[in-house]
Amino acid sequence: MAFPTERPRRLRNSPSIRSLVRENRLSPSQLVLPLFITHGSNKKEEIRSMPDVFRHSVDRLPPVIKEALSAGIRSVILFGIPENKDESGSSALDPEGPVPSAVRMLKREFPELVVITDVCIDEYTTHGHCGLIKGERIDNDSTLDCLSSMALVHAKAGADIVAPSDMMDGRVKAIRERLDKSGFSDTIILSYAVKYASAFYGPFRDAMMSGPQFGDRSSYQMDPANRMEAFREAAMDIEEGADILMVKPALPYLDILRDMAGRFDLPLCAYQVSGEYATIMAAGKEGWIDTDRAMMESLLSIRRAGATMILTYFAVRAARLLAKAE
Ligand code: PBG
Repeated sequence: MAFPTERPRRLRNSPSIRSLVRENRLSPSQLVLPLFITHGSNKKEEIRSMPDVFRHSVDRLPPVIKEALSAGIRSVILFGIPENKDESGSSALDPEGPVPSAVRMLKREFPELVVITDVCIDEYTTHGHCGLIKGERIDNDSTLDCLSSMALVHAKAGADIVAPSDMMDGRVKAIRERLDKSGFSDTIILSYAVKYASAFYGPFRDAMMSGPQFGDRSSYQMDPANRMEAFREAAMDIEEGADILMVKPALPYLDILRDMAGRFDLPLCAYQVSGEYATIMAAGKEGWIDTDRAMMESLLSIRRAGATMILTYFAVRAARLLAKAE
């Protein structure tokens, strides 16, 4: 069929018609709010490269969570900034550290909130790498014990989901076995299965003060040129016991998300990372783009590509707009 019989514009003629035939929708309950938890008390610190995002101490979290819940957000992911760092990242295993303390408080005060924890030692090590080091090499196998211990500390504090973001081989298996052995067979593993060595993590490292002190992360994070490797990574993590798979970053890797959605039947998560957020915020501040529209368009495109859930620093802002739109 062709013009003039076929007229696609018929279905675009009014807001109600467009809404009726809309193929993809965003809902606040699919958005996960990342939170940076710092040590100490009464702290709310600005992050220069991430406008409107803050580092909070545990005692300053409740109003943040109340605001998120009232906008319809039901899940958060926690990143910790410890007081002390050392070569082996030992503060990552401290049950009194910022993340386990925040988990206990959140599960006590807001039992309905889904609490996810990032499991990775880069924020806890002096060298800033995601694995333990031997000289200038990242040592895969000795890191596994550390990661599974960290996941167990989070599970014991009450985390619903642990999310390893280190990209060591075999970590999902190590974590699953450790959790199961310790009575936490219901704790969910969200694997950062497909995590690229990306320039878009820049502002996050600024926020967490966690950049690598030597070299870069390319010996463990994926080469942005690779696609097949993503499927191998994902298949291995499923085999090892992952419950949810993540692709990270989101917008530059929508092709990977799309392919993953077609290949695997696990829930798929996308992380719209700090640099994606900062880019939109910066251009919006200059008046070069409309921040809210660019935000919604990028989030919707991530859903359209196949993500079931999205980690985004825009979570609350987007949820509020969605509430107005519906
Ligand atoms: C590692 C980790 C990083 C991010 C999440 N977990 C940084 C990195 O791998 O360098 C980045 C998230 C973002 O940029 O928003 N613990």
